[in-house]
Amino acid sequence: MASKLVAIITMSTRGTRVGPKVAEFVRKAIEKPLADSGIDVNPVDLVKFNLPVYNEAVAPASVPARGSFQFAHTKAWSAEIARYDGYVLVIPEYNASVAGGTKNAIDYLYNEWKGKPVVIVSYGVQGGRAANDQVKGALAVPGLLVVEPRPTLAFAGQADTFAAVGEGKLGDATRADWESNHLDTVLEAAAGLKRLLLNPKPEEEKAQAQAEATRA
Ligand SMILES: Cc1cc2nc3c(=O)[nH]c(=O)nc-3n(C[C@H](O)[C@H](O)[C@H](O)COP(=O)(O)O)c2cc1C
Repeated sequence: MASKLVAIITMSTRGTRVGPKVAEFVRKAIEKPLADSGIDVNPVDLVKFNLPVYNEAVAPASVPARGSFQFAHTKAWSAEIARYDGYVLVIPEYNASVAGGTKNAIDYLYNEWKGKPVVIVSYGVQGGRAANDQVKGALAVPGLLVVEPRPTLAFAGQADTFAAVGEGKLGDATRADWESNHLDTVLEAAAGLKRLLLNPKPEEEKAQAQAEATRA
């Protein structure tokens, strides 16, 4: 039985989206090398949690010590994120920055994320570097350990870009390009995640013990 559990999270939420296909590409690449080390990867889709713009009265950092969440959507997102020892966030880039839905979902929680390792994979016309850098900054505040490298996956050419934007399709040229030119970076990031999960420092060990207790 696997001893660690990682969520690979599709962070895009629009009606027609390529995000689930990007997440599936990444999941297929990292699943076996992580499973070989006793780490399971579980797909999570942010859209299913239907989070409104943050509307709790409490600040997430004060839960549970000084307050509690009141809404079912927050409780469900909190319970889901708390279960994992680490994360792979698959994020789109909108308007040269992090998508609002991605930032909102990060902001909802604090202690559930704290001290755990995370890989950030961005995608977009140019790979989403700006969004990737911004998410790295946001995740540092609840003390997530951001793994390097952070893959940035760009659509290959105009036809594939239009297919992703308009139809939520991951084009064949893009898949081929990512297989040839980006798989190494994705696998290197997965190896970094594995190192942090299997050789945790005391603070990380505490976060992982809490995640394990949540799953029990
Ligand atoms: C509102 C909006 C803004 C966008 N801005 C950017 C951008 O700044 N940089 C980029 O690389 N792609 C941008 N795109 C294109 C997205 O990379 C592309 O639509 C991709 O499919 C988005 O991921 P999703 O389909 O999972 O939502 C934008 C798309 C949308 C919908």
